[in-house]
Amino acid sequence: MKRYAGHFYPRLGKVTVALFILCSMSEGSRSVRFQVSSTPSVSVALGSDVLLPCRMTPEMNAEKMEICWFKTIFEHYVHLYINGKDDYTAQMPQFANRTELLKENITRGIFPLMIRNVTAQDSGIYDCFVESTKHHNSAAVELLVNAVGSLPVISTIADDTVFCESHGWYPEPYLIWTDNEGNKVIPAMENTFRDENNLYHIISDIPKPTTSKITCTVSNSLNQSKQSSRQIRDTGFPETSHTSIILICIISLCCCLVFAMAFFIRCKIYKRTRLFNHFYEMRHKKRTQEKELLSS
Ligand SMILES: *[C@@H]1O[C@H](CO)[C@@H](O)[C@H](O)[C@H]1NC(C)=O
Ligand SMILES: *[C@@H]1O[C@H](CO)[C@@H](O)[C@H](O)[C@H]1NC(C)=O
Ligand SMILES: *[C@@H]1O[C@H](CO)[C@@H](O)[C@H](O)[C@H]1NC(C)=O
Ligand SMILES: *[C@@H]1O[C@H](CO)[C@@H](O)[C@H](O)[C@H]1NC(C)=O
Repeated sequence: MKRYAGHFYPRLGKVTVALFILCSMSEGSRSVRFQVSSTPSVSVALGSDVLLPCRMTPEMNAEKMEICWFKTIFEHYVHLYINGKDDYTAQMPQFANRTELLKENITRGIFPLMIRNVTAQDSGIYDCFVESTKHHNSAAVELLVNAVGSLPVISTIADDTVFCESHGWYPEPYLIWTDNEGNKVIPAMENTFRDENNLYHIISDIPKPTTSKITCTVSNSLNQSKQSSRQIRDTGFPETSHTSIILICIISLCCCLVFAMAFFIRCKIYKRTRLFNHFYEMRHKKRTQEKELLSS
């Protein structure tokens, strides 16, 4: 412990002195110190190209400096400019062939990074790190990628449930159901998941409403939205009872026919029995008359 302390303190003294000299040197020659700046955030539509700003103040020539764009992790970089040229040897594979450091104004300390064909995965915070032989500084910028998804599809798979589905959104969307009076309908289920391109897929269902029309609106946090409406019921009668009405009609018609036939047959039988009865009565009368005549 003592040995450590003995070694440590003289060293600390030397470091402090060295730091002091360094600081006073830069105080004296302000030209080597610089600030790096960007903008807080940049929004871009999925699939388009974007420029991430990065500049030095005061204006100075950065041709001989190291310029490195990082995205959170420091092992691999998004883009590296070193020794006067671009170096892609340890670039994040995600950015292969998609980055370009624009050097048109590099002598004035302006060197934005171009990222082509932006993907959902590209969203996040980027650091522009600039290093000269004597100083370094960095600035952060957030890349906000947005994508408007597909037109929602409303379907009635089950008799008593209505589904709404939309895909291809970024960032995470939200879904609102409204009836034909504009009232919100609380969904029975809502689910979002990410597809293979990191885009959001949203699905929701509601119990079949009593109103005739239903609207499904899907929006992302930038208030970009898409909506679809669907006629659920015809005025008055539920959609599904069309067939049952026809069925009821057919059944009643059959019943009527059966009744009519039964009635018709019954009438015929009745008529016949009445005829028979009449006939026998007449015959009986005739016979009794004959008998009376004979006996008298
Ligand atoms: C990048 O471009 C080169 C040349 O155009 C091509 O050979 C290479 O396959 C590309 N890499 C990717 C990941 O697209
Ligand atoms: C360079 O600066 C000029 C003048 O300010 C500007 O018109 C041009 O767009 C800049 N180029 C880049 C790549 O930023
Ligand atoms: C952009 O990237 C997507 C996949 O990330 C690819 O399918 C598409 O072909 C690319 N477009 C261009 C113009 O490179
Ligand atoms: C989106 O809309 C809501 C309400 O309509 C509003 O409060 C919010 O500020 C809007 N957001 C943006 C980014 O326009």
